[in-house]
Amino acid sequence: MQLFLLPLFLLATFSVAVPATLTPQDLSLQVKESVLAPRAWTRLGRAPSEHSIHLRIALFQQDFLGLEKLLYEISDPDHRRYGAHMSKEEVEKFVAPRPSSLTLVDGWLNSHGIHQDDLYRSPAKDWLSVTIPIRLAEDLLGAEYYLWQHTSGDILVRATNYSLPQYLHSHVELIQPTTIFMRWNAMSPSLYPEDDDQTDSTKSVMAPSGSHVDPDCATRITLRCLMQLYNVEGYTPKATKKNAFGITGFLDQYANLGDLKSYYRQQLPAAVNSSFKSISVYGGLNTQTPSMAGEEANLDTQFGFGMAYPTPGTFWSTPGSPPFFPDLDTPVSSFVQWLDYILNSEHIPQTISTSYGDEVALVELRYDLVPFTYASRVCKRFAELGCRGVSLLMASGDGGVGDGDPIPATQQCLTNDEKNRTRFIPAFPGSCPYITSVGGTMNIGPEISANFSGGGFSDYFPRPAYQDKAVGQYLTKLRHGTYDGLYNRNGRGIPDVSAQSRRFQIYWQGAPISIGGTSAATPTFAGIVALLNDARLAKGRAPLGFLNPLLYKRGAHALTDIVAGNNPGCGTPGFNATEGWDPVTGLGTPDFEALMKICI
Ligand SMILES: *[C@@H]1O[C@H](CO)[C@@H](O)[C@H](O)[C@H]1NC(C)=O
Ligand SMILES: *[C@@H]1O[C@H](CO)[C@@H](O)[C@H](O)[C@H]1NC(C)=O
Ligand SMILES: *[C@@H]1O[C@H](CO)[C@@H](O)[C@H](O)[C@H]1NC(C)=O
Ligand SMILES: *[C@@H]1O[C@H](CO)[C@@H](O)[C@H](O)[C@H]1NC(C)=O
Ligand SMILES: *[C@@H]1O[C@H](CO)[C@@H](O)[C@H](O)[C@H]1NC(C)=O
Repeated sequence: MQLFLLPLFLLATFSVAVPATLTPQDLSLQVKESVLAPRAWTRLGRAPSEHSIHLRIALFQQDFLGLEKLLYEISDPDHRRYGAHMSKEEVEKFVAPRPSSLTLVDGWLNSHGIHQDDLYRSPAKDWLSVTIPIRLAEDLLGAEYYLWQHTSGDILVRATNYSLPQYLHSHVELIQPTTIFMRWNAMSPSLYPEDDDQTDSTKSVMAPSGSHVDPDCATRITLRCLMQLYNVEGYTPKATKKNAFGITGFLDQYANLGDLKSYYRQQLPAAVNSSFKSISVYGGLNTQTPSMAGEEANLDTQFGFGMAYPTPGTFWSTPGSPPFFPDLDTPVSSFVQWLDYILNSEHIPQTISTSYGDEVALVELRYDLVPFTYASRVCKRFAELGCRGVSLLMASGDGGVGDGDPIPATQQCLTNDEKNRTRFIPAFPGSCPYITSVGGTMNIGPEISANFSGGGFSDYFPRPAYQDKAVGQYLTKLRHGTYDGLYNRNGRGIPDVSAQSRRFQIYWQGAPISIGGTSAATPTFAGIVALLNDARLAKGRAPLGFLNPLLYKRGAHALTDIVAGNNPGCGTPGFNATEGWDPVTGLGTPDFEALMKICI
C-alpha cells in the first residue's frame, strides 16, 4: 500500500534509542488529543487486540510558515517572484521535520520493538506510517481502541484520546487513526441526480460576454452551452506537449472510455478518438465493465477533459471505499494516499480537479469527526502543490451552509459539545485556504446560485489576506446580528468561484443521463483553468499555480458576479448571493476571454 514512500534505510545513521538524559517527567504519558464521542456513534466493545491498524504519524514541520510566505509571493501577480514555482526538493526542505524529531521518534518506536524496516516515510519525511497490532498501538499511545457503530451500521475502530511521553509532544503533531470519526461510505461525491427541466425554452439567451447561447441551454447543459456561456468558443490549445490536466477518482469510481466516446460523439465529435491516461494509485483499479462506470468519474472526465481538449488528461484511480471491520489495516484516507503519490511525482499536471468530499471533506470540527490537527496537516500538503505550480480546484459541497451535517434530516447542525448549539458546518477541504473552492450556479440569462451550493466561513482556518477586502466588504453588508454565533466572521470564506452545476448531460453505463452538483461545476471551472495554463505555457510563461491571490486581485472584471439565490441549510435560508464576493458563489463564474487578459 505504501509503494511510493521511501523506506527508512536512508536514515539508518541516526541513533535509535530513547535518550538516557530524559527525566521521569519527560517520559510520563501526557494526553495529546482528546475528543468527545461524536453524535450518531455508539461504542460497542474493545477492539480485538491482534488486529492490525495502519498508523500515520505526522512530525512537526521545520518551516511551514516560510513555505506559506513563498506560496503567497509566487502566486501574487504583483510580486517579483510571481510564477517562480519550486522543485520537489525545494518544497521538501521547508516541510521536513527537524533532525532531532526524527531521532527521538525513531528511538521511541524502537523502544517498543518497531524497527526501521517496519516504517515508511513520505518524501519529506514529515509523515511516517507503520502497520502494527491494536495491542501495540494501545501500548504506544496509552489509548483504548473500541469498536464504534454509526447509526447507519458502519463500524470503525477508534480511540477518543491518545497520549505520548511528554518529551515527544513538541515533535509529533498528530497520530491517526485515533480520534478521527468519519464514515467512509459517507464520502459521497458532490453529486445530485436530477430530471431535465421540461419547460420549453425557445428564447435565445445572451452570455454576459455578449455572445449567443443556444436556447436549449436553459434546460440542459452540454459542453457547447458552457463554451458559449463562458466565452471559450474559438480558443485552440497550443501547448499540448507541455500542459496536462488531472482529475482525481476515489470510491471505486471508474471513468468509462466507452461512455466517453459516446459523449464525445454527441457533444465534441472532434475528440471522438481521444482518450486520457489512467494512473493506478496504490492499486486503484481501472475497471472498464460498462456497468461499473461511475457517475462522478464519467461526469468529471467527460466535461473536464472535453472542456480542455486536446490538452492531455490524467485520471488517478485510488482504491475504493475501504472495508470497515474486520480488516483494520486501512490507511487513514485515500485522499492522503493520493497526496503521498502526487507529492512524490517529479511532474504534476498543472491543473487538478477534485469533486469529492472525501472523508475529511464532510466536516470541520463541529462533530469532532476531523480533528483540527488532521485537517490542518492535509491542508498544508495542498500548499506544497501550490508551490510546485499546481492549480487545485475542489468542489465546495452540496449542502448549502450545512455541508457537513452528519444528520441532515434534522436540519439542526448541532455542535458536539455539551451545549448542543446549532452552527453552520463548512466543508473541508473546500475551507483550506490554499485551494480554489468551486460553488454551483444554475439558469442562464442570468445565472443564479444553485440552492445546494456549499458556502460559509471556516471555523478552522482564519481568513487569508488575499480575501480580506472581498470578504470584508461582504461582511459589512450583512445586516448587524445576522446569524451571530452560527459562523466565524474571521474564518476563510468559501467558495472562491462558481460555475454551472445542474442538468449536465453525460453518458453513463451506455445511456445519456442528466446530473448536477458542485461536482459538475468543478471540472468545468478547472477545464477553463487548464486552457488558461495552455495559453501561458504556449507563451513560455510559468503555469498559473495557486489561483486565489490572482483571482481576488484581478478577477472582478474577468468573472461574472452572481447576485441572486441563496444556500439554505441548518434550518436557515443560508446566505445570499450578492454583488461582489459572497459565501454562495464566491467571486462568480468564468469569462474565458476576460480571464485570458488577466492571466497572460
Ligand atoms: C481517555 O479514554 C479512556 C477510554 O475511553 C477514558 O477512560 C479516559 O477517561 C479518557 N481520558 C481523557 C483524558 O479523556
Ligand atoms: C476516428 O477514428 C475513425 C477510425 O479510425 C476515423 O474513421 C475517424 O475519422 C476518426 N475521427 C476523428 C474525428 O478523428
Ligand atoms: C445534547 O444532545 C445529546 C444527544 O442528542 C443529549 O443526550 C444531551 O442531553 C443534550 N444536552 C443538552 C444540554 O441539551
Ligand atoms: C432547492 O431547489 C430545488 C428545486 O430547484 C427544491 O426541490 C429543493 O427543495 C430546494 N432545496 C432547499 C433546501 O430549499
Ligand atoms: C437575504 O435576502 C433577504 C431578502 O432581501 C433578506 O431578508 C435576508 O436578510 C438576507 N439574508 C442574509 C443572510 O443576508
